[in-house]
Amino acid sequence: MSLTLSRRRFLAGGLSLTGVCLAGPSWSNTARPALPIPPLADGTNGEPVDLTIRTGLWSFKPGVMTPTLGINQDYLGPTIRTRRNTELNLNYHNTLTEGVSVHGHGLHVPGNVDGGPQLEMPPGERWQPTLSIVQPAATCWYHSHTHGKTGTQTYRGLAGMMIIDDDDDAVSKELPNRYGLDDLPVIIQDRTFDAAGRLVYSLKDAGEDGWFGDTVVINGAMSPVADVPAGKVRLRLLNGANARFYILAFADNRTFYKIASDGGLLEAPVPMKLMEMSPGERCEIIVDLSEDTSAELLTFFEDDIDAEEEGILSGLTGLLDGPAQPAAPASLLLKVDRSLVAHTAPVPEQLATIIRPSESEIKQVREFVLEMDHGEGDGSHTGHGGDHAAHAGHGNMNMTINGAVMDMSVINERVERGVWERWRIRSDQGAHPFHVHGCSFLIEQMEGANATADQRGWKDTVVLDDDDWSEIVVRFDYLASEDYPYMYHCHILEHEDQGMMGQFTVTDKTG
Ligand code: C2O
Ligand code: CU
Ligand code: CU
Repeated sequence: MSLTLSRRRFLAGGLSLTGVCLAGPSWSNTARPALPIPPLADGTNGEPVDLTIRTGLWSFKPGVMTPTLGINQDYLGPTIRTRRNTELNLNYHNTLTEGVSVHGHGLHVPGNVDGGPQLEMPPGERWQPTLSIVQPAATCWYHSHTHGKTGTQTYRGLAGMMIIDDDDDAVSKELPNRYGLDDLPVIIQDRTFDAAGRLVYSLKDAGEDGWFGDTVVINGAMSPVADVPAGKVRLRLLNGANARFYILAFADNRTFYKIASDGGLLEAPVPMKLMEMSPGERCEIIVDLSEDTSAELLTFFEDDIDAEEEGILSGLTGLLDGPAQPAAPASLLLKVDRSLVAHTAPVPEQLATIIRPSESEIKQVREFVLEMDHGEGDGSHTGHGGDHAAHAGHGNMNMTINGAVMDMSVINERVERGVWERWRIRSDQGAHPFHVHGCSFLIEQMEGANATADQRGWKDTVVLDDDDWSEIVVRFDYLASEDYPYMYHCHILEHEDQGMMGQFTVTDKTG
């Protein structure tokens, strides 16, 4: 069964965990690691931020050192802090023995500094882009975008968070913003380890839904604990997994408030009890701990829930009860320390103003169809809906958009700068998070339905389900030339590396 069915059920049912007692995961008395907080790399004063891409050794499991990749550190990279209306100077240095390109995901910057596959740094080389940050406050991220190697390099650790502040935005000041204290980066990933503790990854052995790790790591730690003040705490959640969709909920079924999506603040906080996140997406949430001693954020595998025929509620309880069930979902424990100064101010009722284009402003419509093409002529063709046994080893599957696999020498679309467009995107098979560079867009339709309140903010990734259209409206304000085009692609990194990606230019009208 594909994971897409669960999403339909999950979204359509407006499901909640009401009445379900989610017992705490089985961490018994084992000491849990502290949530690693990536150091802040301050880019707000215009000084170059040095980012050294290197190999490392990181302890995901106590006493086991795992060979990894990282930026300035052994695994993942620093959180780059920048500010609206400033210039961010980055100084990447690739010390690996393979090429690397690093993309700023969510940034509104021109193609020549976007960090797509055309901007690969050969071994030993540097790349020093200057980025003019003009967009509103947001949680973005940066990660490997090396042609054909995005999946493996990101999996091994080449990713980090980027926070854009906005000093002129009064609302931002009213939100918890003390990094590492009540404003926490939460990078959710899954990894598989072999007996020696090494990361296991193989693009060619990935199933058709991409590479799934069996162990969740949060900022590189398994089920970590963070000490937080007894007040409002802001989590900047990033699904940094290669392929996995997560469903997030608190163990006590508490309400939290989603305040921001990929591209910045929502118009108003949206109360939620569970939330889906696809690869590449960011969500900022506020959780109120003023009355608590702790709260536990659980990360469910959407595909595990899907395995339960009886629906999501039994799925969630089933994961937690009974000896024969899979391990309890991994979690992030927020432990209240009353000696810390708390942020107690209410969350502002209005966060941002989002102006959607009127119908008459939309000048162009484009359609994109994402297809998974079961390697014709290689003898392993099983047809759509083929059985699960055929899922291992789809290395020669063609992943296409509008019938074409990614070709660095082909410009697939040509877009005019500053003009609103409607993009209609459909999945022929399977669920895909579709991501577009160089912009934030607005979702009109998602999986055939109107976008819900929590999806009506600025986005750069939209989920497509089996055989449903999603529709976005988008406008590009920066240039991307044929030499340095932007990309659109599926953010399941194995799909991207297998060709589910296209290139487009943004130019001013000529003549
Ligand atoms: Cu986050 Cu083109 O990627
Ligand atoms: Cu991107
Ligand atoms: Cu995909």
